[in-house]
Amino acid sequence: MFEKSESDAAALAPALAPEVYARRRRDFMDRVGPKGAVILPAAPMSVRSNDVDYTYRADNDLLYLTGFSEPEAVCLLLPGHPSEEYVLFVSPRDPERETWTGRRAGVEGATARFGAQTAYAVDKLDEKVGELVSQREHLYFRFGRDSALNHRVVGWMQQWQRLRPRSGKGPIALFDPAEILHEMRLRKSREEIALMRRAVEIATEAHVKAMHSARDGMHEFEIEALIDSTFRKHGANGPAYPSIIAGGVNATILHYTANDQPLRAGDLLLIDAGAEYQNYCSDITRTFPVNGCFSREQRSLYEIVLAAQLAAIHAIRPGARFDEPHNRAVDVLVDGLMKLGLMSGDRKQMIEKEEYKPFYMHRTSHWLGMDVHDVGQYKSGDTVRVLEEGMVLTVEPGIYVPAEHAASDPKFRGIGIRIEDDVLVTAEGCSILSSTVPKDPKDLESVCGHA
Ligand code: GLY
Ligand code: MN
Ligand code: MN
Repeated sequence: MFEKSESDAAALAPALAPEVYARRRRDFMDRVGPKGAVILPAAPMSVRSNDVDYTYRADNDLLYLTGFSEPEAVCLLLPGHPSEEYVLFVSPRDPERETWTGRRAGVEGATARFGAQTAYAVDKLDEKVGELVSQREHLYFRFGRDSALNHRVVGWMQQWQRLRPRSGKGPIALFDPAEILHEMRLRKSREEIALMRRAVEIATEAHVKAMHSARDGMHEFEIEALIDSTFRKHGANGPAYPSIIAGGVNATILHYTANDQPLRAGDLLLIDAGAEYQNYCSDITRTFPVNGCFSREQRSLYEIVLAAQLAAIHAIRPGARFDEPHNRAVDVLVDGLMKLGLMSGDRKQMIEKEEYKPFYMHRTSHWLGMDVHDVGQYKSGDTVRVLEEGMVLTVEPGIYVPAEHAASDPKFRGIGIRIEDDVLVTAEGCSILSSTVPKDPKDLESVCGHA
């Protein structure tokens, strides 16, 4: 019954209105200019084990510009070309194969439903690239996970370089399309923000359900099941990344995903889980007591992380530097850790030398969008970029006191806390998309353990 999947995740029509993709392509191609040819491949499939693949996930750059989600496709963009400005190379219709692996849009669907000016079976790629791309001087291609295609592109370039003295044409420079495309993806449009709000809303419900349900003796995977089923129940593709359900000391492992240990009264539970809805992600973390009641030590650390998070969010507005929220969070974390006796010394020097890193080893923010760690530059040269309206970032400070940290007071050891929200930069400042997930300790104590 089983056969390697080719297109079981394929959608036969784009998720958003065709005009949305057309507008994005126009914008992108205007910036590439008439000398450019752009090759955007589909993500390769990857083997999970033996003859079973991982569930297919399309490439976000291709999805962003075309909505096309089948594997083994290539998009070719030739700005200004009269008849082949937007070309899709796709797996052709094949009733026998489709019986096994799902429907394909095919060459006809690629033009009729995805708006390509022309479409070809993907085995025509070499021939058409030779004919069309050789007329352009700038090739836009990003070396990616498809190493076979990477090699083909190198081969094409070698050939064009060799032939150019006599042909008088062919690409002479290779550009990374991400320089343009990822800057576009970084600034979210109205329809993208609506999808992200929905991804956050679904994750909010999941987090609140988990707070109601966690109990002494339950296993972390039971909470994981509840969260992931809530995502699917609302039509999310699933988790945007493997859900982290970390009870007690497991919360000090940043990317803990084993999720197989029992929960214990007296421990904290850290849940870092976000939904992927129509290819847009949420990314939310809450930490709360399994039995609905913080211990004195847990609460004192929790209040520091919360104060750091609020200070970081307060720094978000158009014109602020991307690293300002991080710097504000670090100030508050270091002050708090000093007050509790977990750090001591010269405050300024400890911050400069990052001596807080045994307790806080990650950054406070990353971009959020179609990828959970979304695309877009954080710096240009040595200059940290400035926030703009429409950007979405996480704010996720934490304190993790390692279980074996001999220098720390034993009563704090093994406690891990992170609080993470998703924040949209607005004209006036910012909007916390995940603001309805409880995080005030009093609210948590009244929500947790009360189904
Ligand atoms: N869930 C991954 C992160 O918070 O960055
Ligand atoms: Mn995050
Ligand atoms: Mn997270």
